[in-house]
Parts: sequence; C-alpha cells; structure tokens
Amino acid sequence: MICLTTTASTVEETLLQVKENKEYIDMVELRLDMLNENELEDAFRVPQLVKLPVLATFRRKIDGGKSTLSNKLRIAKLRKVVLQGEFTYVDLESDLKKSDFKVKLNNEGEKVDFEDELRQRGIQIIRSLHDFEKVPVGLYSLVEKLAKKGDIPKVAVTPNTIVDVLTLFRMEDELKSVEKKIIVGMGDYGVCTRILYKKLGSMLTYCAPKGPTAAPGQLTPKDMKVLYRADKVNDNTAIYGIIGNPVFHTDSPKIHNPGFDGINYNAIYVPFLVDKIRSFFRLAELIRIHGFSVTAPYKREVLPYLGKITREVMQIGACNTVTRIQGMWKGTNTDYYGFLSPVIEKIKTGSVKKALVIGAGGAASSVVWALVNYGVKVTVINRTVEKAQQLASKTMSSFDSLNHIDKYSGKVDLVVQTTVVGMAPDLTSDPAPDFYFTGKEIVYDLIYSPDHTAFLQRALESGCEVVNGKRMLWEQGLLQFEAFTGYHYPRELVNSFEEILVNNND
Ligand code: ATR
Repeated sequence: MICLTTTASTVEETLLQVKENKEYIDMVELRLDMLNENELEDAFRVPQLVKLPVLATFRRKIDGGKSTLSNKLRIAKLRKVVLQGEFTYVDLESDLKKSDFKVKLNNEGEKVDFEDELRQRGIQIIRSLHDFEKVPVGLYSLVEKLAKKGDIPKVAVTPNTIVDVLTLFRMEDELKSVEKKIIVGMGDYGVCTRILYKKLGSMLTYCAPKGPTAAPGQLTPKDMKVLYRADKVNDNTAIYGIIGNPVFHTDSPKIHNPGFDGINYNAIYVPFLVDKIRSFFRLAELIRIHGFSVTAPYKREVLPYLGKITREVMQIGACNTVTRIQGMWKGTNTDYYGFLSPVIEKIKTGSVKKALVIGAGGAASSVVWALVNYGVKVTVINRTVEKAQQLASKTMSSFDSLNHIDKYSGKVDLVVQTTVVGMAPDLTSDPAPDFYFTGKEIVYDLIYSPDHTAFLQRALESGCEVVNGKRMLWEQGLLQFEAFTGYHYPRELVNSFEEILVNNND
C-alpha cells in the first residue's frame, strides 16, 4: 500500500491533500500532531470523508512529530478522535507504558484501557519505533518483540551506509514469521528502501504531499505510484538502478522507468546513494540487481568488481553501465558511444579528420579515445598542460596549453569542449575566448545545461554546425536502456525523453 502522510494544519487542508493525491494512494496517515489544536474536534470526520483506510497518529517531538504534550494527555486526545471516527489503524509508540493507556473517565476514578477499546472495535494497532540517527543493533529481535503482542510492528530507522541498507533488505528473510510489518529506511540512504518497500516485506510505504515533507527522504505519492510503480513490485520484478554520491539529482529514473513500462517489462529503476562500492555489490547480489548506471565518483572505482569489461572501458578506465550477464557483472561505457553517435557518420565519411579536444579530465578521456579509435587525429588542449600531456601520451595524440588555442583556428574539423566552463549558472564564461571559428568546423560542447553555452553560441553565430551535451546525454541514455533490456527505447516516449531533459534545464 502507498500511504499518504498528511502534513496539513487544518482538516480542510488535509482533505485537499488527500484529494490531490487520491489516485496514487491506498491509505492515509492522519497526523493529528500537525493539526491546529482547535481542528482536533473535527478530525474524527476524516475517514468518512476520504473513503480510504485511515491511520491515526499523534506523533511526539522526539519521534519527528510536533506534539509536546505529556503521554497521558496525548493519548487522551488521540482516543477522543479515534473513538468518534471510523479509523482502521492507530499508531502507538512502542515505549509507552501500560499506565499511559489507562484513561480516567470521571472524577469517581473510573478508568478504561485504550488498547482494549481499540481491540474491541477491531482497530489495528501499529506499534512503532523510531530512530532518527541509526539502524539500532538487534533490529530483528526488536521487531519480533513488537510483533508478539499481536499488533503490527513498525520500525522507522535511519541507515547511514549501504551496509545499514543491507540490514533492512535482509528483514524479509530474517522475519518471515512476522507477516504484517512496516519497515522504513529514513534519510537519503533510505530512499531505495522506501521505493522497494515490498522487497523488505513492508506492508506499506509512506509518502508526503509536495512541499515540506513529513519525514526525511519521503517521496510524493505520484512519484511512488506513477514513476516507480512501487506497488507493482513482485518476486519477478527485475531491479535496476543508479549508484553515485550524490545521486538524487539524476534524471535517469525518469528515463528508464517509463521506458520499462513502455515495453511492458516488469522492472524498476531505483537511485541508490552509495558510500562504499564493495557494500553495494553485496546488496546487488542480495536483491539480485540486473543492471545499474554508475555516476561520480564510482566510474573508475567500479572496475575491480567487474568480471568482464569492453575495450573502451579498459582504455578509458571508466564505466558507466553495468549489467548482469550469465552470473557475471559486465561493464560498458555508453558515454563513449553516446558522444560518438552525433558525429560518427561524419567521421566515417572522412569529413572529420582532425579534432581539438578542450579539457583533459574524465569526460575528455572518453571523447579522445572514441575519436582516436575511429582514426581521428586529436590534439588535447588543457589549462594544466601536464594533464593534457598525460592523456595525449595514453591515446597517441598531440597536446598543447589552453593559452595557445588560437593557433588551431581553421586547422581542425571538430572542436569538442569538455570542461565545466560555461555550465549553468555560469552562463557567460567561455573557456577559449581567443579561439576564432571559421564556420566550417563542427563544434560540440558536452555541457547540457544551458542548451547553448557562450562558447557554443559563438560557434553558432559564426555559422558552425553545433552539437550540445543534451544530445549526448540522450544518446547515452538510449544505449543504456538497450544494454539493460535488449530493446530499443520505446519510440513513442522519445519525445517525452527530450522533454525531461529540456524541463530540467530551466
Ligand atoms: P570531468 O570528469 O567532467 O571531465 P574533471 O576530470 O574534473 O571533470 O576535469 C575537468 C576539466 O575541466 C579539466 O580539464 C580542467 O582543467 P585542469 O586540468 O587544468 O584543472 C578543466 N577546467 C576546469 N575549470 C576550468 C577553467 N576555469 N578553465 C579551464 N579549464 C578548466
């Protein structure tokens, strides 16, 4: 189930949040602690109005909520709302004492037990435990203990490493006996556990409305349902993903998930924030990941873990795509082919024979190798000339200092700009203002935001044919999809693919 955690301060606003997300959710967690005091009176009406199962939660400050009331008072307020309404679940913190649930009914000292009342009414208790700092030791036995009372155990903990994430994914195997449970990994490392909640054996995943989220790492219901189709994950779902640190800026999930859907492939593509690549491979084996994209800083670090690599990966020393083939991890580099795609015909027909590559970093390395492998003569130009020399000697190319770039004007067929100079928000910088375009050369800038850097704009105005980084990004994404699935990216989605890239550059 996808559960919307409300964050509104009024009942009216709560109803609006549910309405806006209704098509994406299966249940609602009504956060009573978020409501203004005077709204509590009306809160009992929510289940009837939203026509979905509702979980009532009155969260304390120490558990990430807003309530600063004493436990006794808080439970009394929660009880009042719950017993008037038609709630399906109630969340009670696992450390509350028996005495906290005893509610005084009158001055004669008559008392009732809130837990008993809930059971009599068939309202299920969720017994929750939160840890905003770590994954506590002995997590499995903690869950077993919580489950013993016959309630639904909930643990919301904070993984700080991929090893912690592994602990959460092992839950399903370790705790088969606890059928109904809720497991949440909070924070950035936990995002993959929220999306793959079914693989953890969790009966639900919590989402938050757009805007200030209720808990760290929460996604919107729409992303959970439409982008990830998280509720459709089953034993046969093939898991793919992207690893990096940072990783959440990437557009890749928006490209691959709709693509999988478009070819009717039961698969999901998830971002994994990774601290240690070695631990990630253990996770990949555990949850049987079929393939993944690799982004900074792991493009080189991933190499020792691969059983098979292509010639380009070996030459460049960097891999951005890993697939599982016959029990072995295979590394390819679609940046290499993605770069080549827009210019390959020109190279093959002989109209590109000489190229100037500006920059000598990781991106330049893919570019120079691609060009050299196809017989283009390359000169590497860099601010730090030693780095240009290193790359040139590996690739049997020439090199020079960026200060001398003007002398190459009119002498090359292709100019490739690989540095970060001119990338948004630095829209006016030009890495080589002294370089004069004749209008005959093809000018290729790897930067994809903005569409046209100052450098590319100057080339365009001089009449050059230009290629931007967006095109390369697109090409390498299509190739990656093919490497993952063996199918072309669905034709009807190619336009939306472009839209994703365009929208994100605004
Ligand atoms: P990437 O993996 O994106 O290529 P990188 O390996 O850090 O990133 O390489 C960055 C490239 O941009 C280098 O060639 C760098 O030049 P130096 O080797 O002299 O550092 C180049 N670069 C970065 N800032 C630059 C600037 N302000 N002017 C010129 N070149 C710059």
